[in-house]
Amino acid sequence: MDPDVRAGHRADRRPRREPMIAPSLASGDLARLADEARAVAGGSDRGADWLHVDVMDGHFVPNITFGVPVVRSLARHTPLPLDCHLMIEDPDRWAVDYAEAGAHNVSVHVEAVRDPVALAGRLRDAGARAGLALAPQIPLEPHIGTLSHFDTLLVMSVPPGFNGQRFIPEMLDKVRAARRLVDAGELDVLIEVDGGVNLDTIGAAAAAGADCFVAGTAVYGTDDPARAVRLLREKARAAYGRP
Ligand code: DX5
Ligand code: ZN
Repeated sequence: MDPDVRAGHRADRRPRREPMIAPSLASGDLARLADEARAVAGGSDRGADWLHVDVMDGHFVPNITFGVPVVRSLARHTPLPLDCHLMIEDPDRWAVDYAEAGAHNVSVHVEAVRDPVALAGRLRDAGARAGLALAPQIPLEPHIGTLSHFDTLLVMSVPPGFNGQRFIPEMLDKVRAARRLVDAGELDVLIEVDGGVNLDTIGAAAAAGADCFVAGTAVYGTDDPARAVRLLREKARAAYGRP
């Protein structure tokens, strides 16, 4: 039995949907992005649900990864919905460009955005979902009202900026609180967990009520990324109490 289930953490916080897996492309071979996208797309099997694209600008976080032109090209090379996580300054200025470049979901960090409600509306007008991201030091409660204008909530379980960090289990309190609000009909967001998700941690994140699991190292750090996606989904499904 899954240790989380044994410990009674499963409770009733069970998302209605199938667990979604979003491999984080920044952990792949950055010179072969289309190949890395293809490696998790699934073919005849079910593959990843979304492809997570970590956009870092060297200012909001010290690292630099992808920008709009890369997202535009990727969208032409993969059928997977692109889940763009913007770790950038001034998302009010830049986020809509990612939607127009073909992103399916665009998440912005709440402390970086000046007018989150207006930005969510503009992202939706541009055809994307709007996501709000909470770094580990940012609490959920003050932002619940804002979240009613968003489609997704991205709970970071590591500090933003780098892959391969250790999962912070205390972040699951935020996931549980968000799950309760969603289940009570007070919020309507898809709950994502991002950072340090692997076969040892995904069960707890699923039991806490997350819908979508971002995994970089745990997918692209293996010899068989497609298999890693399948195994992660199976673990999450088991923690939801499903076969
Ligand atoms: C961290 C990023 C994460 C990260 C995930 O700044 O937002 O998406 O790349 O990578 P792992 O799964 O290795 O923590
Ligand atoms: Zn991310």
